Amino acid sequence: MGNSTSGNLLDVNNIEVVYNDIIQVLRGVSLSVTEGKIVALLGTNGAGKTTTLRAISGLLKPENGLIRDGHISFKNTDITNKLGTHVVKLGAVMVPEGRRVFKHLTVDENIRVGSITRKDGSKNIRSDHDRMYEYFPRLKEIKHRLAGYCSGGEQQMIAIGRALMADPEMLMLDEPSLGLAPLLVREIFDNIRLINREMDTTILVVEQNAKIALEISDYAYIMESGKIVLEGSSNELQDNPDVKEFYMGITQGGGRKSFKEVKSYKRRKRWM
Ligand SMILES: Nc1ncnc2c1ncn2[C@@H]1O[C@H](COP(=O)(O)OP(=O)(O)O)[C@@H](O)[C@H]1O
Ligand SMILES: [Mg+2]
Repeated sequence: MGNSTSGNLLDVNNIEVVYNDIIQVLRGVSLSVTEGKIVALLGTNGAGKTTTLRAISGLLKPENGLIRDGHISFKNTDITNKLGTHVVKLGAVMVPEGRRVFKHLTVDENIRVGSITRKDGSKNIRSDHDRMYEYFPRLKEIKHRLAGYCSGGEQQMIAIGRALMADPEMLMLDEPSLGLAPLLVREIFDNIRLINREMDTTILVVEQNAKIALEISDYAYIMESGKIVLEGSSNELQDNPDVKEFYMGITQGGGRKSFKEVKSYKRRKRWM
């Protein structure tokens, strides 16, 4: 069953996820990621986005979570409820929410740590290492600084750089824009696109910031209350009036809805 030959890099098929044996969070989530693309998973706080990434990355267990039904395959290999280390070895690496860095290591040491599981030789590792500093020149300037003293934006770049040093086929990013100033968000997303184009890294990005995520992605899913409620090409979704209204805060007149208006409208949303 798990070994479907869909041609997709990742297939999440109708998964149900529970925490602590009782709290059901995902209720039949399906999504696919085609090789070479950038796919966005959008939704407001508590929708189940992080849980979906944990399910794919094999990181539910430490949270006492379990895929109770459905299955996930990566490169046509079943990874349902597999360990995180197994999934990383297969080539899917996640950058968790909250820019986790090793605070007592330098920027450069943090980035180097990402390559320890690689077996393709020091030459490739060195050239990828150089490439990280081309993508994030800001990091090169501060390579000897302790990561704990870096700004939020710099720490996000370190976390992405470190993940890339594992040479993943698919990079999963959990809310890279969270808590960052707009200019930095732009810089990070421009880099994500560059990495996708130049390193051929397939990307699955989770975001609450639908606007920027739709700008750089090829395809997107919108999630609410543990279900996918809408999907389509990112161009298509950018023009969808519901998406504009709920997630981008733009009304037909071009104005911005007040929080209260959006909220009341949300209760009678059309796609549920
Ligand atoms: N470790 C956990 N144990 C129990 N419930 C959890 C756990 N992590 C998340 N949840 C619950 O699952 C739901 C979805 O959370 P999450 O996947 O973090 O959503 P999102 O990333 O979209 O904000 C929330 O109701 C949250 O409280
Ligand atoms: Mg989350």
